[in-house]
Amino acid sequence: MERKNSGSCAAPVRFETARLVIREFAEGDFAPFHGFASDMEVMRYMQDRPCTEEQSAKFLAMAGREREKEPRANWYLAAALREDGALVGTCNFNLSSEFPDAFLGVILARRAQSRGLGTEAARALLGFGFDALGLGKVWGFCNVANTASARMLEKAGMTLERIDEGPHFGIMRWSVVRAEGAA
Ligand SMILES: CC(C)(COP(=O)(O)OP(=O)(O)OC[C@H]1O[C@@H](n2cnc3c(N)ncnc32)[C@H](O)[C@@H]1OP(=O)(O)O)[C@@H](O)C(=O)NCCC(=O)NCCS
Repeated sequence: MERKNSGSCAAPVRFETARLVIREFAEGDFAPFHGFASDMEVMRYMQDRPCTEEQSAKFLAMAGREREKEPRANWYLAAALREDGALVGTCNFNLSSEFPDAFLGVILARRAQSRGLGTEAARALLGFGFDALGLGKVWGFCNVANTASARMLEKAGMTLERIDEGPHFGIMRWSVVRAEGAA
């Protein structure tokens, strides 16, 4: 399959859901980003986190470098509220080495959780992968104890394929394939 992302999608990414704008990171995002990236409660299921200031800065620098790559394979995006523009989370969408597979992730600040925004973001990321990039299959991974993430992936349309046992905890592997006949 040809990578559809190697042309038009090199442009800055921005899409909207009912309540979110999902966009490239911009100047001024560091403080709100670090606010939730350094929150132990938010980051408890993430590897190597909560982030120090240095790690948050490195993450945003890495997001900027990935944005410049052609063809682009990794999208690290900001999730902001449409109503006031406040940055409340981050979304990632990554092409897998097993192309045309990809995987997605969502992290929201505490105040934005449990309001349906994660599910909204995950659905929008799937639309991005299937419609804009023309991908065949998208995965989502989470710690078996991360009920909110598992339920978000399920509500976004994913099915649990398997659970891999890790040294410390199990990893749930969810996936969804592009609908038959989709463009
Ligand atoms: C995982 C996350 C993105 C989900 O987003 P969210 O906006 O909170 O989730 P939603 O409101 O869309 O809810 C999705 C489902 O999860 C459930 N849920 C939400 N928060 C929950 C919680 N703290 N505990 C258990 N279930 C929860 C909701 O009830 C809903 O299921 P339901 O419709 O059956 O009731 C968000 O909780 C988060 O950012 N967590 C911290 C970071 C993280 O772990 N990210 C996932 C990385 S794999």
